[in-house]
Amino acid sequence: MTEDLIKQMELDKLPKHIAIIMDGNGRWARKRFLPRTAGHKAGVDKVKEIVQTVGDLGIKYLTLYAFSTENWNRPKEEIESLMKLLLYYIRSELKTLHKNEVRIQVIGDISQIQTLPRKEILRAVEMTKNNNKLILNIALNYGGRSELVRAAKLFAKDVKDGRLDINSIDEESFKQYLYTGSQPDPDLLIRPSGELRISNFLLYQIAYSEFWFSNIYWPDFSKKHLYQAIIDFQQRDRRYGGIKDDE
Ligand code: IPE
Ligand code: IPE
Ligand code: MG
Repeated sequence: MTEDLIKQMELDKLPKHIAIIMDGNGRWARKRFLPRTAGHKAGVDKVKEIVQTVGDLGIKYLTLYAFSTENWNRPKEEIESLMKLLLYYIRSELKTLHKNEVRIQVIGDISQIQTLPRKEILRAVEMTKNNNKLILNIALNYGGRSELVRAAKLFAKDVKDGRLDINSIDEESFKQYLYTGSQPDPDLLIRPSGELRISNFLLYQIAYSEFWFSNIYWPDFSKKHLYQAIIDFQQRDRRYGGIKDDE
């Protein structure tokens, strides 16, 4: 089955950048009469599988939504357990990620993250900073609106301090103030769990991304779904406001 899907994929037309809203852990757990934490734990195992698969395909950028600026609204215990899982993920995977030449980057305001997981993630960022095979952006305490406000502040400061001429800014140079800097925008945005919304993810960067939604919960998401999303993406006609060549 998976083999068949691989055959259907056009390997010379892969997306350069995939972004995933990893959603549905809680509902996955509830369906099994398990605590939500069990869903998050199962979700982490999927992160391992999908990072590996994306790397094996030779795709250069992967952005994973791990914790949003709004997720602080959850019960304290759930936030604690998410932070513990983050720590566990980095501790158990860092060696493998480094060996596979993955560069870990964080997007979001990690100054608000508890000391232990924050230190561990900064260690991972530092250790992998020269890797170049796969850039893995982990969105942590990330919000698209807060990213844009931050960018506007940085931009204003550069103007105020005389480093930047206000007339020189355009869409491309403004992009540099975002966490994702000069990275290409996501070509493909995947959201499992059945929700059909963006939940404050990458607002600037997804202007022309192709969306792929599915009812599957994140802990059930597998290689097979990733391949299917890529195959579907390859059938899309991306027009960027223009018209098809033959029209
Ligand atoms: C995604 O799963 C994980 C995070 C937001 C951190 P959820 O916890 O949102 O799962 P549902 O949406 O309640 O099923
Ligand atoms: C989005 O999922 C955030 C992450 C996956 C980290 P949520 O579960 O927080 O989104 P909403 O609340 O359903 O929009
Ligand atoms: Mg959710």
